[in-house]
Amino acid sequence: MSKSSETLFPWVGNKKFYIEFIKSRLPKNWNDNHDSTYIEPFLGSGVVFSELKPERAILSDKSPYLIDIFKCMKSNAKYFNKKLKDLYEENNAELHAQCKNQICDTKSIYARSAMFWYLLRTSLYSFVCPKADGKSFICCYKSTGKPLSVKDKLYWEMSEVLMKENIQLFNHDFAEIIKMGNKGDFIFIDPPYMNLKRPSRKIYNSFSQNDHERLVSEILDADKRGCLIMLFNHKHPYLDEHLSNFNVVTVDHKQMRKSRSHFATYEEVMYTNY
Ligand SMILES: C[S@@+](CC[C@H](N)C(=O)[O-])C[C@H]1O[C@@H](n2cnc3c(N)ncnc32)[C@H](O)[C@@H]1O
Repeated sequence: MSKSSETLFPWVGNKKFYIEFIKSRLPKNWNDNHDSTYIEPFLGSGVVFSELKPERAILSDKSPYLIDIFKCMKSNAKYFNKKLKDLYEENNAELHAQCKNQICDTKSIYARSAMFWYLLRTSLYSFVCPKADGKSFICCYKSTGKPLSVKDKLYWEMSEVLMKENIQLFNHDFAEIIKMGNKGDFIFIDPPYMNLKRPSRKIYNSFSQNDHERLVSEILDADKRGCLIMLFNHKHPYLDEHLSNFNVVTVDHKQMRKSRSHFATYEEVMYTNY
């Protein structure tokens, strides 16, 4: 099985098992002069960014709660780490319920982001998102029966990279972010996939067919500008038709996810334009 990377917190669809696969297919010499920008419009757990550790990056995700976590690690990693550890130490069902009910009204970005991280770590299947009314969160408590610990080495390494001046964080729709790409920049694109049959897609149900079409249009524009692009998705006739000039490599799940064979029941691919 390939080496997997760690994530700081659980995030549905994270690419931790794909790291070696991705690293072996990066555009050659794309960052030799350290003047290219790494662009990740669907940041999620940030596991790919934290492995590549680029000098210049534009990172974004539509989830404000998620991006605030990275903003806290960039602006005051020490204070945020303490906030998180306070919650980890107190971990129990009552605290989980309290965080779920108070998170939306919590004004401090550090307290709110620590709650979100804590909820991700202590909720069943990590389905953690606001209810439709936006007043509290949906998620069920999962007790691990063991004390929780922050992966400190990874935390500090990632904070150090995030703190660099040329690492920018946004909470934008992907289109605005992809438009920022210029010739020679590398755009890593890991959107919600084009397959509505998978149950996990429910949490990204706002990503419609129209969004997929907008995404393809942004990719084609970025391709014309000379950006280097890597896209993950299901193999889909729509993508094959519109990205017909791109290279397609099938993701070998057997190598990566020995114990999760149901992932191998659909074809997942990587499209690249280099
Ligand atoms: C498959 S996950 C990315 C996982 C990430 N590569 C990782 O390793 O953790 C897709 C991400 O897209 C984000 N997202 C959904 N709709 C979006 C949009 N319109 N613009 C930007 N991000 C969006 C979700 O919040 C989610 O984090």
